Amino acid sequence: WQTRLGQTLLLAAAIAHAGLGLTSLASRHSLAMSRTDWVQLLLGLATPPLLVNHVVGLAVASDLVARFSPNYGYVLAVYWRYAPLLALQQLLVVVIVWVHGAIGLYSTLVLRPVWPRLAPVVIPILFAIPILALLGFAHAGEAVLARLASDADWRALIEQNLLILQEMRHRLDVIEYGVYLVYGVAVAAAVGILAANILRRRRSLVVISYDGGVTAVGHIGMSVLEVSRANHIPHASVCGGRARCGTCRIIVPADADLSAPAEAESATLHRVKAPGDARLACQARLLGRPLSVQRVYPAFVDAEAAREPDSWATATEPDLEAVS
Ligand code: HEM
Ligand code: FES
Repeated sequence: WQTRLGQTLLLAAAIAHAGLGLTSLASRHSLAMSRTDWVQLLLGLATPPLLVNHVVGLAVASDLVARFSPNYGYVLAVYWRYAPLLALQQLLVVVIVWVHGAIGLYSTLVLRPVWPRLAPVVIPILFAIPILALLGFAHAGEAVLARLASDADWRALIEQNLLILQEMRHRLDVIEYGVYLVYGVAVAAAVGILAANILRRRRSLVVISYDGGVTAVGHIGMSVLEVSRANHIPHASVCGGRARCGTCRIIVPADADLSAPAEAESATLHRVKAPGDARLACQARLLGRPLSVQRVYPAFVDAEAAREPDSWATATEPDLEAVS
């Protein structure tokens, strides 16, 4: 990220990712999410505001003024000597981003058949990298403080950079507020669309009858899984509703009044060799008429059911047929 190309790619990736995250939030019809999804969403949303002053105070400032030359040593000196609160903020954001990214990576990899072989390598790495990074940060801090005390020229250079930053403060503040404003508007728009989705349809109720005689009420636009979660009905959903695991799948009547399957759903149903009357509860949205569904997996299944759909299907299908 020290080069112009690297910075552009990083910024484009961050904007695309945050945009996709907000789009996914806006397209929900309910806030009935798993705890892991809540943690991932909130950590993701907290990241940009916590990073803005770091990015503006370094990358943007050095673009604006050629004399300003921040390097890693300068950043460490500022954090350890001149602005320890910024250091705490930076440590917090490292932990937040790492936990957020690790949840995403783990949730994707755990569904792959290769996961049992990857796990002994990936899991230690997921823990080791942030711990080593934080230890490195602390160790480098000691070295920087020692150099500040012994190397007057270097200290003068750091303080000169700080002065330049002070002179630019007003311009940088304007840029920071601009970024907060754009981000705030984007988040508010996503939350507004989500609220509109929920409120607009709140009177268009749809009754779902589940296997085992349970019934629940949802509204038009909700997915069957959202209805299950909102009504505390146990329903397997190993991938959290991302059309990847197939564990939420349900058997529905041929004339079920549900949205048509999109490509991701069809691909997953095909991969798990689901019969023609199966749908993914996380993708099938209610259109209006009452519905009866039969869950294929018990709610307690774990990622193994996604990795080994064949062995699970043979183990569970006879029981479920008996239920129907
Ligand atoms: C700019 C700040 C960020 C925001 C606002 C954000 C937001 C989100 C949201 C809302 C999701 C859930 C999307 C869904 O519904 O499936 C998500 C998933 C994810 N995020 Fe972020 N995120 C941010 C930064 C990052 C960073 C820096 C990383 C890399 C370490 C990262 C890695 C991931 C991964 C791996 C997933 C899972 C994607 C998937 O399930 O396909 N995110 N993010
Ligand atoms: S919850 Fe994983 S496919 Fe629906």
